[in-house]
Amino acid sequence: MSAAPARLVVLVSGAGTNLQALLDACADPAYGAQVVAVGADRDDIEGLARAERAGVPTFVVRVKDYTSREHWDGALTDKVSAFEPDLVVLAGFMKLVGASYLPALGRITVNTHPALSPSFPGMHGPRDALEYGVKVTGCTLFVVDDGVDTGAIVAQTTVPVEDDDTVESLHERIKVGERAMLVETVGRMAREGWTVDGRRVRLGG
Ligand code: GRF
Repeated sequence: MSAAPARLVVLVSGAGTNLQALLDACADPAYGAQVVAVGADRDDIEGLARAERAGVPTFVVRVKDYTSREHWDGALTDKVSAFEPDLVVLAGFMKLVGASYLPALGRITVNTHPALSPSFPGMHGPRDALEYGVKVTGCTLFVVDDGVDTGAIVAQTTVPVEDDDTVESLHERIKVGERAMLVETVGRMAREGWTVDGRRVRLGG
C-alpha cells in the first residue's frame, strides 16, 4: 500500500498559474500530493476560479474584514489549520504572514519568489533584476520566516535575461521556470519529506 497523498493547502492572490501547475501535477496519483484547499486574501481572482473548476474547496480571508492585521493573521492561521495540511504553498500570495501564523504553520509553509534570493527581495523581483542589469535571474522556493523573502532556500532555478526583455517578458520567462521548480520540489517534499538545519534544507529522509 502506498502512503496517503500529502495534503496541500495553496494560498494565492492572482492569476494562479503556479496553483494550476500543482493541480495538474496532483491529478497523477504517483505525484503523492493532493490540493485539499485553496485560500486567498481577495475575491474574484482567477486563482480561486481555477480551484473551483478543479472541485477544490476555497476560502477567502480579507485584511479589510478584520480590525487589525494581527486578527487577520489569526483568522488565516485558523482557516489553513482546519484543513490539516502537510505542506502549505504560498503561490503568488501577496501578503506577509505573521505572529500567529509562523509558530503554527511556518515550519510547513513554502513560498515562491520570482528572483534568485538573496537578490531582489520584495514585490518587484523581475523589475529590480532588470533595472540592475543582471544577465541571469530566476526563482526561489523557500521556507517562510518573519522576513521578506529571507527564509531557508529549498530550491532555485536560473533564467537568462535577454537584451530586449521588458518586466513582463522577463516575469513570464521566470514563471515558466517557477512552475517547473514548484511542481518538481513540492512533489519531492510530499514523497520524500525534508529537513531544515539552520539555513540548510535537504529533501529526503
Ligand atoms: C509568481 O511569479 C510569484 O512568484 C509572484 O507572483 C507570481 C504569481 O503568479 N509573487 P501566478 O498567480 O501563480 O500566475
